[in-house]
Amino acid sequence: MTKEIVLTGITTTGTPHLGNYVGAIRPSIEASRIDSNETYFFLADFHALIKCHDPARVQQSRLEIAATWLACGLDPEKATFYRQSDIPEIAELNWLLTCVTGKGLMNRSHAYKAAVDENVSADQDADYGITMGLFCYPVLMSADILAFNAKKVPVGRDQIQHIEMARDIAGRFNHIFGQHFVLPEAVVGDETSLLKGLDGRKMSKSYNNTIPLFEGEKKLKKAINKIVTNLLEPGEPKDPEGSTVFEIYQAFATPEQTAEMRQKFADGIAWGQAKKELFELVNSELSEAREKYNELMASPEVVEEILQAGAKKARARAQSLLKELRKSVGLVNFN
Ligand code: TRP
Repeated sequence: MTKEIVLTGITTTGTPHLGNYVGAIRPSIEASRIDSNETYFFLADFHALIKCHDPARVQQSRLEIAATWLACGLDPEKATFYRQSDIPEIAELNWLLTCVTGKGLMNRSHAYKAAVDENVSADQDADYGITMGLFCYPVLMSADILAFNAKKVPVGRDQIQHIEMARDIAGRFNHIFGQHFVLPEAVVGDETSLLKGLDGRKMSKSYNNTIPLFEGEKKLKKAINKIVTNLLEPGEPKDPEGSTVFEIYQAFATPEQTAEMRQKFADGIAWGQAKKELFELVNSELSEAREKYNELMASPEVVEEILQAGAKKARARAQSLLKELRKSVGLVNFN
């Protein structure tokens, strides 16, 4: 049976929060347990350099994100788990792809256009502060995916355009140099996997509305208490639809627990009580992993060893593809 190749990466600039866990890490680990999948998960640390020029932050984030995946139950025997920067073949493929990518395609990238728009509205030069790293971001992301010929790429909605660009770039390379790449597809989780943050907007580091994943019970409780609610009093029926407290509860609950909480909302549960029950539920799912996380953060050498082994597996795969690609573009030895 040929397995379906599933691949995703997380940019190593931040500390993982509850939204990363529910939206990306937990479903990816579930996917890695399905026998018909071959999974590749990586730390997108080359991508981190695009938006972060603080070496200590990048380094710390790489460790935190690696420890998070492992603490949450990723089995490095089942999935191939590695750092992007440990795979020089990705950088090499990045160049091969750059040479078939139209500049016009990159001009249409949302991330780049947003940066230009921001400059224009601030009366700056359109290209102010925009690096070639940002401009070519979708090419590097294509290299990540195509180096392993991944078919399914789980991502957030904001990344769909990048996967479409990877398809375009792969198609163009195939057209010029022969059939080498599978065309990848974005897999976007359902609405429930997009967690809302404290203020009701999508949970995101850039909105500063996140709930921490492994920063301890106290901080978890404090953040949950800060979730914005309406002003309904205890005893007044509350609408679970659109309630951040209810939605986060649902992301951790069994269908039975969700039905019970729905009834409690109808019966007018106090917000303070609902938040208490939310904290208890989330904490019970996370407390074991939190211990594991703290252990791993205290033993970076253990994490390093796992990542080295992952890089070895990943490189073997990427090297054989790159050998083929070099040949196809006319880069072969003379003997
Ligand atoms: N750009 C993605 C993000 O910010 C991270 C990423 C980098 C990625 N390379 C990837 C995701 C390849 C999927 C596949 O979310």
